[in-house]
Amino acid sequence: MSENVSGPLTAESIAGAAYIVAALLFILSLAGLSRHEKARSGVIYGITGMVIALAATTWLTLQGAWGTGHGLTGLALLAGAVLVGGAIGLWRARVVEMTGMPELIALLHSFVGLAAVLVGWNGHLEVPALSADLMAVHHAEVFIGVFIGAVTFTGSIVAFLKLSARMKSSPLTLPGKNAINLGALAAFIALTVWYVNDSQLWLLIIVTVLALGLGWHLVASIGGGDMPVVVSMLNSYSGWAAAAAGFLLNNDLLIITGALVGSSGAYLSYIMCKAMNRSFISVIAGGFGIAAPSGADTEYGEHREITAQATAEMLSNATSVVITPGYGMAVAQAQYPVAELVHQLRERGVNVRFGIHPVAGRLPGHMNVLLAEAKVPYDIVLEMDEINEDLDGTSVVLVIGANDTVNPSAAEDPSSPIAGMPVLRVWEADNVVVFKRSMAAGYAGVQNPLFFRENSQMLFGDAKQRVEDILRAF
Ligand code: TAP
Repeated sequence: MSENVSGPLTAESIAGAAYIVAALLFILSLAGLSRHEKARSGVIYGITGMVIALAATTWLTLQGAWGTGHGLTGLALLAGAVLVGGAIGLWRARVVEMTGMPELIALLHSFVGLAAVLVGWNGHLEVPALSADLMAVHHAEVFIGVFIGAVTFTGSIVAFLKLSARMKSSPLTLPGKNAINLGALAAFIALTVWYVNDSQLWLLIIVTVLALGLGWHLVASIGGGDMPVVVSMLNSYSGWAAAAAGFLLNNDLLIITGALVGSSGAYLSYIMCKAMNRSFISVIAGGFGIAAPSGADTEYGEHREITAQATAEMLSNATSVVITPGYGMAVAQAQYPVAELVHQLRERGVNVRFGIHPVAGRLPGHMNVLLAEAKVPYDIVLEMDEINEDLDGTSVVLVIGANDTVNPSAAEDPSSPIAGMPVLRVWEADNVVVFKRSMAAGYAGVQNPLFFRENSQMLFGDAKQRVEDILRAF
């Protein structure tokens, strides 16, 4: 960027100052978004930071226009990119369903990865005039940027395909998958050393193809239950890809925001792994050390069904009720009748609470947002760890559209693909009513023995309609 500026010091220093203000606003935005009471101001800080960043970049490009004569072309390209990108972004943001957010985010990460690859390739084709030492650094930046970007690109596309059910969510278990990943990493290190010493185009082509394959394989090897961690891990990769592009473009704002996204994404992945009792290293290494599930079909016996009328009677006689919502509540948009059900039960003196699993639904905090939307009192919405001890002795648990998050095999069957993942121990309650449309498995593709327990009964149908039926039966 610096070559196109007519008054280099002034233009660059003013834009640099604007970039620092924008970066500070992004940090404030992250701080705001970490607490739901301050989330709105967090979003406003983020938007303001982005407007300042865009204005500074546009202004920098305008300066170039007067200096070199090429600037107007740059400005036209910039305006075109902002208009097309902004229009597509606005359209997608308006039409996306809440349940479709993770796949949209995965797709957006793939664009960051692709951008980093293109910036890296540009860095190879347009080499700046530098001293020998700095040239080696430039070549390393090109190679590393292309590698991280390409891994992020294909990894995010696989995540998008899996999250949108266009690809099976079960893990791909190629023979020697760990050796493939480690081999690709070793080849990348060796090729980087080679490229830094001798920047041949064919080396860049090889690393691009290698990284595209590695990204695809890493994410394809991870099972459905671990997808939340994968999404935040790809978020982290996209941050590092942006930071790498920032080094190449000599753009402080990209370096700072890339590092922010990269480190916060890595930390979120780490927290999620801890919450789900998963090894962080194993997940980021594409399911390293995780054996393929046995796939043996277990015979669970017969399930029993219940009607809405009988459920209403059971609830009328209950003293305590716990509701554990999941993805199906979001699909059915059942939160409003559920809030009404809670209201009516509380009027009758029943102690009603919610138990929220950390990965219920399809994005962090999904259930909390839905319940807040339906104005469910916040003090009865408890985290999994807060409610688990109380489930033993609860009269009735209503499992509304949840499946993996209430699966006893996670706690009891070491050969299960979700073994070790903490779950809501709903089967310890006196009675369990499961709202879903069929006996189909949950997101992780694992059958749920809860449905066949003696104290469990299935209430089939759309969750919203069934809850409304119960309200009518009252
Ligand atoms: P899931 O295991 O996804 O199960 C949801 C259940 O809802 C399904 O079994 C489905 O059964 C039922 N359902 C769907 N539509 C329904 C409707 N209209 N009415 C009634 N039931 C309906 O749900 P969960 O317990 O919330 O678990 C979440 C899963 O998603 C975990 O495996 C988690 O790892 C993964 N995941 C989470 C996230 C985050 S960050 N939260 C991100 C990506 C993936 P029927 O088809 O039989 O109705």
